[in-house]
Amino acid sequence: MPVVAVVNRKGGSGKSTLATHVAAYCAGAGQRVLLADVDRQLSTQRWLKRRSAHSLDGRVPIMGLAVEPNQVLRPPVGTMHVVIDTPGGLRGFDLARVVMYADAILMPVCNSAFDRESAADCYAELKALPRVAGGRCRVAAVGMRVDGRTRAADTLRLWAERLQLPFVGVLRETQTYVRCIDEGLTIFDLPPAKVQADLAQWQPILQWLEPTLARPNEPVPAAAKASAAAVRAAALRAPRAAPSPARAPAAGGMAQRVGRLMELLPIPRFLQRDS
Ligand SMILES: Nc1ncnc2c1ncn2[C@@H]1O[C@H](COP(=O)(O)OP(=O)(O)OP(=O)(O)O)[C@@H](O)[C@H]1O
Ligand SMILES: [Mg+2]
Repeated sequence: MPVVAVVNRKGGSGKSTLATHVAAYCAGAGQRVLLADVDRQLSTQRWLKRRSAHSLDGRVPIMGLAVEPNQVLRPPVGTMHVVIDTPGGLRGFDLARVVMYADAILMPVCNSAFDRESAADCYAELKALPRVAGGRCRVAAVGMRVDGRTRAADTLRLWAERLQLPFVGVLRETQTYVRCIDEGLTIFDLPPAKVQADLAQWQPILQWLEPTLARPNEPVPAAAKASAAAVRAAALRAPRAAPSPARAPAAGGMAQRVGRLMELLPIPRFLQRDS
């Protein structure tokens, strides 16, 4: 069951907008998708409530779930995809917990120095987590609210290139997104002819997600299904590179330690998958 998480420390960067769109895209493709919300603002769950007022023919209803940090979450049987919306300021243990289950992470980034700096810090922390470092969880940035009349897209592309962060596209600034979210809808629910430009911008993002989304029936990775003892034993057996505190940046070192701690934890507190 592929899990796509939307993560960025920066509040208001567009996480819920991306999460609702990825979920609606999956639903439009006939997939049973769970939209899980780790954010206590519950933006996506409120959006789902507004969405329930529409009769969206041919679209599978999106399932919703609010997730308390300490709650064990079991996606309902039959769930084919999970999309996780996360709160601003997510870091440390809470970030590592989300990453432990994510196969792909989209990071929405607006074009201001504040946004880029915050996103860079978040990416540095992500990269230090074993699941991301080992390639089991892919990460890519999406430029958000990009004004096509400016050089914002180029600036963001260059910024991502310097960080060696895959940059998979930009979404333009348009009230269509604002109105959609107000109505419990997404670009994918509107008549395609009316949102051609926006659908075109989504293509490279969906293409990047494709390897993850294309395998809804793939069994859950062994590590996620393993019993508590097996997870602990595997983590202890795995060879660990000797830590090099002199060379490791402080934030990365901490993130790495948190990541390893997560692998040693017997019970996935945040998310348990049905096999
Ligand atoms: N492409 C866009 N064009 C115009 N407005 C947008 C676009 N994308 C998002 N927005 C608006 O930007 C605001 C922030 O978006 P959103 O709520 O998705 O961010 P967030 O990262 O989830 O915020 P928070 O950290 O508070 O959860 C919202 O008002 C949303 O409607
Ligand atoms: Mg949000």
